[in-house]
Amino acid sequence: MKQAYQRMTRWGIPLKTPEELEKMRVAGRLAAEVLEFISPYVQPGVTTEELDRLCHDYIVNVQGAVPAPLNYKGFPKSICTSVNHQVCHGIPGNRQLKNGDIVNIDVTVIKDGFHGDTSKMFCVGEPSIKAKRLVQVAQEALYVGIREVKAGVDLGKIGQAIQQYVEAQGYSVVREFCGHGIGRGFHEEPQVLHYGKPNTGIILEPGMTFTIEPMVNAGKRHVKLLPDGWTVVTKDHSLSAQWEHTLALTEDGVEVLTLREEEEFPRVLRWD
Ligand code: MF3
Ligand code: CO
Ligand code: CO
Repeated sequence: MKQAYQRMTRWGIPLKTPEELEKMRVAGRLAAEVLEFISPYVQPGVTTEELDRLCHDYIVNVQGAVPAPLNYKGFPKSICTSVNHQVCHGIPGNRQLKNGDIVNIDVTVIKDGFHGDTSKMFCVGEPSIKAKRLVQVAQEALYVGIREVKAGVDLGKIGQAIQQYVEAQGYSVVREFCGHGIGRGFHEEPQVLHYGKPNTGIILEPGMTFTIEPMVNAGKRHVKLLPDGWTVVTKDHSLSAQWEHTLALTEDGVEVLTLREEEEFPRVLRWD
């Protein structure tokens, strides 16, 4: 019989075995590959439901994996597409992307029982300088967070680093949504806040797998839910941007399980 109980930290956070970490690496790589696959299709005129269909078919037929969002708590599609002032959880539909839009595509796949969760911003045609700067700052906010990830560090320190960076750029961090532990579950403990103070929150340990996924608004941090029950938008209608990676802590460092080829960021950050 296989291991009957999941190892936990003293905080009740599930820890992954080396075998489980290997499965997380596979799921993470597949999720990243979906974003690489969809990139050439993100062009003016395409509808978000066409992007959903392309990703769905790729995940199911090419990767032999499962799109985790589909039917998750009633979500009707296989990816999330969040355009311009949409913050997250946008539902793909008949909206056509147009020149100058910025769109987040959030992909989560399940392979061999384990989840890989990642998102990135796409620029449609040529967005404004302001929009492109927001997109870049949001990506750097994710990297700032990843660079803080070390065994022994508390989650408050990661949140603070992200918040300080974002606010110094004149932008705000959304509070209502956070990163999360991930594994056999889509959303496991702990919650990974993108704001906070050091010496608060749980302490990181090798074997933990979780996401960081800051949502950065050009205006105020406040958000509201649309009547569709899913789409989150900025209250002040300012633009919003988000990037997400799934990470694993090992004895040696932090691995970015969903890193893409195009990224100028190390797949493994080692500490001594
Ligand atoms: N992928 C999102 C996350 O990063 C969750 C989407 S849930 C859905 O946690 F139901 F909207 F798909
Ligand atoms: Co996530
Ligand atoms: Co996600």
